[in-house]
Amino acid sequence: MSETFDVVVVGGGPGGYIAAIRAAQLGLSTACIDDWTRADGKPAPGGTCTNVGCIPSKALLQSSENFEHAGNTFGDHGIGIDGLSIDVAKMLARKDRVVAQNNDGILYLFKKNKVAFFHGAGSFAGKDGDAWRVKVSGVKPAELVARHVVVATGSKPRPLPGVEIDNLRVLDNEGALAIAAVPQRLGVVGAGVIGLEMGSVWRRLGAEVTMLEALPDFLPMVDTSIAKEARKLFTRQGLDIRVGVKITGVKVAKRDVTVAYTDAEGKAQQAVFDQLIVSIGRVPFTGGLGADSVGLQLDERGFVAVDAQCRSNLPNVWAVGDVVRGPMLAHKAEDEGVAVAERIAGQHGHVDFNTIPWVIYTSPEIAWVGRTERQLRADGVDFRAGSFPFTANARARAMGDTHGFVKILADRQTDRILGMHVIGPMASELIAEGVVAMEFGAASEDLARICHAHPSLSEAIREAALAVDGRTLNL
Ligand code: FAD
Ligand code: NAI
Repeated sequence: MSETFDVVVVGGGPGGYIAAIRAAQLGLSTACIDDWTRADGKPAPGGTCTNVGCIPSKALLQSSENFEHAGNTFGDHGIGIDGLSIDVAKMLARKDRVVAQNNDGILYLFKKNKVAFFHGAGSFAGKDGDAWRVKVSGVKPAELVARHVVVATGSKPRPLPGVEIDNLRVLDNEGALAIAAVPQRLGVVGAGVIGLEMGSVWRRLGAEVTMLEALPDFLPMVDTSIAKEARKLFTRQGLDIRVGVKITGVKVAKRDVTVAYTDAEGKAQQAVFDQLIVSIGRVPFTGGLGADSVGLQLDERGFVAVDAQCRSNLPNVWAVGDVVRGPMLAHKAEDEGVAVAERIAGQHGHVDFNTIPWVIYTSPEIAWVGRTERQLRADGVDFRAGSFPFTANARARAMGDTHGFVKILADRQTDRILGMHVIGPMASELIAEGVVAMEFGAASEDLARICHAHPSLSEAIREAALAVDGRTLNL
């Protein structure tokens, strides 16, 4: 016996579970299928983000930052701590509790919004007239029928050819979030977002961290001046960042991992680590979905091919999040999920790709929205830039956290804000002001004229906006 819905969502990560909730809010009968399972066999909706991504990484970043502050900066405040130590098992258990709270929160939200949840793997099983049949394989097999299907099956780590992830010596993001004891020597292949966040966690707890990055530039997607400042600060903290490397071999032994590579000068090098994190990007995941069986088109890189509205080549089959083009970010997945649910309900859902913020949760944090100087030059845009350092911000000084700066880029003629780039304390929160400003088409002068609380970090944004016109007040 099959169960009939208006919408079936395959995948319960941020793209899928949010699409399901929004569809249900709009009066559509909705089911969400997700196969993530806790160690005890219970469902763990929330996808990569909740289980092995955003949430656990931020829990460990917080724990390790607390440890670093206790060891390095509390003394400046006159707070003495004797015998500082880290109980890694307890830290990991706390992280697991935070994850479980989020899993349970999603199950509660499904109930509250009357989304039918199916724990298992969903796959296309053909068509009944206008409707799609979707099979659920799992503890409780089921067959669902729905006019609309939303594919939100996410992504998985990109493998390094010839290197097997065992999550003991060679780790992907899942293993990097569960190292049982602080390694003495930690290697990281790929100095991107995961590498920097995970490298920071274990460096703060005492590991010697070496990052091996293939590209000649560090963080090329970040505004050049911010990337330069970040590299300087991370190196000072102790991250050994080597760019322009080519990995030539990885040999795993019982107690260590040896990585052979050529450096930026082309010289053969070798490094030995206790553990090695491989974080060289992620690839879309459609395994087990039965895409072929119904002719769901994938692009040459394996993403579900969709148009600007997240429509696939099949009627009423949509796809959102990491499994489609665009940045692999939880909030991008969520916004696409909302937009698709609204389109299914006949509304005009919209996602503005120009105003999706990015955050790297290192210390200091890095956050940006809009275009970088390099992109604006490439696009031939005439712009003005204004920067303001946190050393000149009273709140940052009171906090004892004055690294970094805010930079605003605005069109020279119209003064419209084209990008905001922040490296500094709470950049993840500050960037929201840039997003709002850009969504409202604000000029830098608008930000410069808005009253900001004193003392607050956000005053650095106002000052950067004033700097666009060469008239900072506090520098
Ligand atoms: P996913 O979250 O991957 O969810 C897909 C779900 O579908 C999974 O539960 C999967 O098991 C399930 N599934 C797959 N196939 C099937 C099937 N056939 N049947 C049933 N279920 C299926 N992004 C941020 O914005 N901020 C961050 O701080 C951040 N930190 C990250 C840290 C790490 C270490 C990693 C790895 C990623 C991080 N990301 C972050 C990226 C973020 O996790 C992803 O962009 C986001 O999870 C994508 O959401 P999604 O719903 O598209 O896919
Ligand atoms: P990434 O794309 O951020 O970084 C991968 C890095 O590995 C790049 O710098 C790349 O040049 C390098 N690389 C690729 N192949 C290599 C090789 N063979 N040898 C050495 N270096 C190599 O990808 P990452 O860090 O794996 O994260 C995946 C995605 O997950 C991110 O792009 C982001 O979308 C998401 N994410 C978001 C976070 C956030 O929002 N704070 C946190 C973590 C992940």
